[in-house]
Amino acid sequence: MSSRRRRLRVHVLEDARTAAQAAARRVAGVLLERQACNVPTVLGLATGATMIGVYGELVRMHRQDGLSFAGVTGFNLDEYWPMSPDDPRSYHRTMHELLWDHVDVDPARVHLPDGTLPLEELDAQCLAYERAIRRAGAIDHFLLGIGRTGHIGFNEPGSGAGTRTRLVRLDARTLADNARLAPPGTELPEHAITMGVGTILEARQITLLALGAHKADIVARALEGPVNDEVAASFLQVHDGVTVLLDRDAAARLSPDTLGSAG
Ligand code: F6R
Repeated sequence: MSSRRRRLRVHVLEDARTAAQAAARRVAGVLLERQACNVPTVLGLATGATMIGVYGELVRMHRQDGLSFAGVTGFNLDEYWPMSPDDPRSYHRTMHELLWDHVDVDPARVHLPDGTLPLEELDAQCLAYERAIRRAGAIDHFLLGIGRTGHIGFNEPGSGAGTRTRLVRLDARTLADNARLAPPGTELPEHAITMGVGTILEARQITLLALGAHKADIVARALEGPVNDEVAASFLQVHDGVTVLLDRDAAARLSPDTLGSAG
């Protein structure tokens, strides 16, 4: 195995529920470790079907185990554009419904790109989002999903390692996949504001979670294929702090080499 690939820690879990719980435990672990030292935590966060079980488990940990989100700052990867925050398709609303409305986070510390701004104000907003992350002291832990185009955030094919927060056009495959999460009869905007690959790679630790057989091909390309902008997630191979959590179906196309080193 190449030294490059050895940096990724890959764990294959029994099923989707167990994998989502393992991802939630990683987030909780970072929170508890930092709370024990009295330092705040900055989380990078994704939405999407994969994350539903993770946020459900974090809410359960808050309610039953007393896990606190006081002092946590959250930066989400992306938001559709144009998009109002109370629209049922919006990632603002999704994050509130799945996580933030149920935990003790300070609402002033919850950040997502603003999908309501006119085109001419987006560049300034994207720069401000990057500045806000830096002001918060960098992302301690990033929770990522992966799209079938290999995107992390909405960094579709062609997104290089140096990309930053910006407006992007969504790949037709992403629009088709994500339409399944949108209320029936509604369409998704063709654009989104997303953190760049470069923004994501600045996180200290990253957990990539992928679930289901429909992710198996892209997971294998991202973890074992060449590192280039055809598959944005392949850039995770060059980050030292990445843990990959997979259910068995998502791990189905990995080589024996990768699986042999998997926990
Ligand atoms: C969502 C995001 C995307 C998703 C990816 C997987 O905020 O940034 O990268 O993580 O599209 O989506 P699901 O989980 O719906 O398969």
